[in-house]
Amino acid sequence: MIISGKDLAAEIKRDIAADVVKYKEQYGREPHLVVILVGENPASVSYVTGKAKDSEEVGFKNTTICRPETVSEQEVLDLIAELNEDKAVDGILVQLPLPKHISEDKVIAAISKEKDVDGFHPLNVAALWQKQKCILPCTPKGVIKLLDKAGVEIEGKKAVVLGRSNIVGLPVSKLLLDRNATVTMCHSRTKNLAEVTREADILVVAIGRPKFVTADMVGEGAAVIDVGVNRDPETGKLCGDVDFAACADKASVITPVPGGCGPMTRACLLENTIECYLNQVAK
Ligand code: GUN
Repeated sequence: MIISGKDLAAEIKRDIAADVVKYKEQYGREPHLVVILVGENPASVSYVTGKAKDSEEVGFKNTTICRPETVSEQEVLDLIAELNEDKAVDGILVQLPLPKHISEDKVIAAISKEKDVDGFHPLNVAALWQKQKCILPCTPKGVIKLLDKAGVEIEGKKAVVLGRSNIVGLPVSKLLLDRNATVTMCHSRTKNLAEVTREADILVVAIGRPKFVTADMVGEGAAVIDVGVNRDPETGKLCGDVDFAACADKASVITPVPGGCGPMTRACLLENTIECYLNQVAK
């Protein structure tokens, strides 16, 4: 079975759009997401355009602020400080990566924790690992929603997470642990990697290499979630970290790329914006 992130994201967006109509009546304004784009990296431009389109689709106010590649770190920090203070702004997202002369750590930490729709702020990350209320990072949240939608039991299962990034691998592992899976975290340098991944009931892959996971790495009946977004070096088309054609027959459920985790990340960003908005209007 192929799990369609596109369909589930569309369901989530329909619900949010209906809620926004009600909230607008109740609180007198719509949720407002501000996205900051530095430079013109084509992938970043495409992501930011997608976020703006989704926001508008559900009735949010969306502001995309573009700054040139040469903008100084201080200018970006000043802009964030201004947006933090603005009561008409609910969510702030700075598209990553940033040019080398700007510290991503500094920029992420400058965003008010209450407006951190990405869930990247150190206080949000700490809250997640300390089982406190927090804004969940979008992609990991989307992965869990996909598993739930597909009816995959998580509790008591062996989950293997391939990749250890701050954005995906580490928080996905934590969310699976919180759902009482037994989690193995592994990476490209793991010895006998195929032996480890083959044991997984649930295999989440976020390693950032096209078609890295081959059929011999997938156990019979595993649920496979592919977070990768890459260009296939042979065809130039979008592809995941999993060789979908080779692994689909072995998996009980599998996500496609595109149309799997990508749309879910965007849907969860909208959910997080609503969460920040409701906190803001309740103040
Ligand atoms: N660049 C790639 N993915 C993301 C994301 O989820 N959030 C931000 N801010 N930048 C990204």
